[in-house]
Amino acid sequence: MTTADRTEQTLAQLGVDSPEQVASLFDGIRGFFDSTVSTGDLDWKAARDSWLGRKSGILSNITDRWLKPAPPELKRAVGQELNKLKAHVEAVLEQKRLEIEAGAERAALARERMDLSLPGIERATGTRHLIRQTFEELERIFLAIGFSVVQGPEIESPYYNFEALNIPEHHPARDNMDTFYIEGTRGGRLLRTHTSPMQIRTMEKQPPPVRIIVPGKVYRRDNPDATHGYMFHQIEGLAVDTDITFCDFKGTVEYFVREFLGPKAKTRLRPSYFPFTEPSAEVDATCHVCGGSGCRVCKFSGWIELFGAGMVDPAVYGFVKYDAKKLSGFAFGMGVDRLAMMKYGVSELPLLYQNDARFLRQFP
Ligand code: PHE
Repeated sequence: MTTADRTEQTLAQLGVDSPEQVASLFDGIRGFFDSTVSTGDLDWKAARDSWLGRKSGILSNITDRWLKPAPPELKRAVGQELNKLKAHVEAVLEQKRLEIEAGAERAALARERMDLSLPGIERATGTRHLIRQTFEELERIFLAIGFSVVQGPEIESPYYNFEALNIPEHHPARDNMDTFYIEGTRGGRLLRTHTSPMQIRTMEKQPPPVRIIVPGKVYRRDNPDATHGYMFHQIEGLAVDTDITFCDFKGTVEYFVREFLGPKAKTRLRPSYFPFTEPSAEVDATCHVCGGSGCRVCKFSGWIELFGAGMVDPAVYGFVKYDAKKLSGFAFGMGVDRLAMMKYGVSELPLLYQNDARFLRQFP
């Protein structure tokens, strides 16, 4: 017979007839209660119903089967034991209820807890790319002396990219500008290999004087390496007027070099060749690393090549119906990537285009 079954029977049926037996009977019930409510996942409601339920709860059973029919000499003992048991059951169940509620509360708090120590979502603020910064610096330098900025198409015709710049079809100068022609245009369209076509387009559109710079992207079929890519950036310059001399050209170039590299930088013009300038020059500056005494960067020459330039070849004026007898001017074409790499000590051209934040962050 299980402990609970015993409460279905009367004391007489159980053979209990002394107060000592009553006490030990109740001890057994109490032990059974304690063991049923000490499980980890107690079903509190079920426990309450089975012990305190008015109709068939164990304590009601005890009242009905043990207390009421008890013989007078045991009634007092049963009554006392029953009260003690009832108080114990109620106290323990109340205690359990509080524990369960507190546990639920703790769980809810843990679930809903906001961790204020977590770092917030940081939105990185962008910066202007080093190339953009260099463009702006170059533009500032030339805007300050009266140049204005114009832009032109990246898809050009061979006429503007070559012919009108005095580079006829089979001219060897086309070779080192191995070009991207656009499919389906029968050689009629190409990606401009330099910004010089804008010299022509500008002079076609407006009468002299002209003082422009042209920032933009240019394309060449170069094999990519540390200093070459299939795309790079140039700033073209063109000044044409009735009284522009080689002195103006040299003065402008020297002004630029001092502005860009600092007041100590010296300038050197080296003879060169471009079909659309005559004479042509490579502009060199004293090495920004060693200041001219010779180092690895300048290959121990003390000089660094900056860009190509020259006096506009009179033949070019013929293409834009400018009067070559009255007009003169100078032009230059700078590689912006090259100038940026030089000035900011960037050793690899690809770094400029990989969008690696670790690189970009160095130029805020
Ligand atoms: N367009 C030439 C180049 O890309 C540079 C240049 C421009 C030279 C203007 C002289 C005058 O190499």
